[in-house]
Amino acid sequence: MGNKPSRLRGFIKKLMNKSNNSPIASTSEESTTNNDDVSNRIKYNVPTTHDGSTHSRSPHGILKYLWQSNFSAPVEDILLSSGAILDAGCGFGAWLEDMSAEYHKPDFVGVGLFPQHFPTQISKNIKFVQADILCLPFEDNLFDFVRLSYFATTFAHHEWDVAIKELIRVTIPGGWIEFVEPDLVPKDTGPIGTRLLEALDNLNITDILELKLNATKQLTDIQHDSRSLTIGKLGGEAGISHGKNIREYFEENSQRFYMHMGISSEEYSKLLDDFFEELQTREAKLRFFRFWARKI
Ligand SMILES: C[S@@+](CC[C@H](N)C(=O)[O-])C[C@H]1O[C@@H](n2cnc3c(N)ncnc32)[C@H](O)[C@@H]1O
Repeated sequence: MGNKPSRLRGFIKKLMNKSNNSPIASTSEESTTNNDDVSNRIKYNVPTTHDGSTHSRSPHGILKYLWQSNFSAPVEDILLSSGAILDAGCGFGAWLEDMSAEYHKPDFVGVGLFPQHFPTQISKNIKFVQADILCLPFEDNLFDFVRLSYFATTFAHHEWDVAIKELIRVTIPGGWIEFVEPDLVPKDTGPIGTRLLEALDNLNITDILELKLNATKQLTDIQHDSRSLTIGKLGGEAGISHGKNIREYFEENSQRFYMHMGISSEEYSKLLDDFFEELQTREAKLRFFRFWARKI
């Protein structure tokens, strides 16, 4: 924001002046819309490639498509001024690339555990930092807008509390925090999908995130919004694309799942095939949520 104390501006400038490719730290009732409604007011299309490029490796394109926007918190003024923006757990940096192309004045910072995921060709106003969200290498009260997306299948229960605390800590009083998360299991998943998805032993964070945010007593104006997407071909291009994301996730983490389920890798591969066949025949709807709040 325009009234950001100069020490914060100085810190961010220092960060931005370091080489952009070298990590600076190595510590370790809602308005529900479904994907059919989106096609009537389309601004952003579903990303079409699945060749490993940034947008296909990230759920960001689907989320942007469902909401037809990149964020829900009222941060337009911050973005049009010289705010400092943090994408915590930025993955392949797709959200940051989109945002920096649209908003030129803020300083954007992406944090991730795996620097190999950071894109190599980036705008001047993005800085990537290799660091752990659970122990951010930033001083208190630094960023005007902090967001985190798609950690539903990553964080364990206790990690959510630490992450929320860290994100609040680095946000300036009056600044905004936004979370974007899916439910773990689509509604109306069939029996095969249910068996597979039950192996996800994460918390369904969308059920309790608002409670957790409230419980911090450091946030106000807590709000949420959701969108639904039918996974698979009955959900059109977006449903097919996100079905591929889900499949990639279960393939990349196959060992963890087949061991947890007590089945062989061959049985697991067959289960995955059967799940995706089942998905083509039923309207399994996955809900995505955005939660946003202002730091007191
Ligand atoms: C959990 S997803 C996040 C997806 C990303 N927000 C997006 O929308 O594409 C995968 C990314 O999270 C990052 N990640 C996972 N755990 C992390 C942690 N504890 N701290 C920082 N980044 C983390 C990894 O670097 C990885 O690139």
